[in-house]
Amino acid sequence: ADAAPMQSALLEWYAGVHEARGMPWRKPYDPTLGPDDRAQRAYEVWVSEIMLQQTQVATVIPYYTRWMQKFPTVRDLAAADIDTVNAHWKGLGYYSRAARLLQGAQKVVAELGGRLPGTAQDMEAQIPGIGRYSAGAICSIAYNERVPVLDGNVKRLMARLLALHAPPTAKQSLDVLWAGATAMVQGSARPGDVNQALIELGATVCKVQNPSCGPCPLQAWCGAHQQQHAPAPAASDAP
Ligand code: ADE
Repeated sequence: ADAAPMQSALLEWYAGVHEARGMPWRKPYDPTLGPDDRAQRAYEVWVSEIMLQQTQVATVIPYYTRWMQKFPTVRDLAAADIDTVNAHWKGLGYYSRAARLLQGAQKVVAELGGRLPGTAQDMEAQIPGIGRYSAGAICSIAYNERVPVLDGNVKRLMARLLALHAPPTAKQSLDVLWAGATAMVQGSARPGDVNQALIELGATVCKVQNPSCGPCPLQAWCGAHQQQHAPAPAASDAP
């Protein structure tokens, strides 16, 4: 199917919600940045994505701001010791995330000249702690690369959109969901914004319980919504 109408609907919805939330890691993609500034953007988005993995946006914002004051570049982070890093993580939980950020930064500095890799494929392959989701988020947002994201919220959203009647964690389901997420950014000029719209829609509208289908920009394409609103079978059809 042509993704363009869905992308337009998503971006229009996203424009209406995202500025209000004031997330300091969100900056418009700037195609004129040189390699060092691009890599710096990737570092900033990397930190935000790792913090956001298990923690709500509102909680993350002050931690992110303090982190960037203490470790403004990947070199600053790589030079820090684990106790200092953990002190700046204190309260966020899941401390292994902080340790992996530090290890990743050390590898970037020791082996990659201080720049994060320039594509999602290389990032996932080369940086410990960056999996397919994080690589997709970082590279679509920082580099405008057309790569998909599929976190827990986007999984649920895609499963509903595609009316997938299979456990969303099964291997075959995951392949279908990644393919769906890939289709969402296909041909888009703003894949980072499309992905952030999906992440945010999954987290705030397409909720586990009582999804708010009314304001959902994807309602017209949603298989689950259509099935739910299909005419009920007539009583006479019952055995
Ligand atoms: N959760 C994970 N990544 C996010 C992002 N870029 N914006 C908002 N919430 C997120």
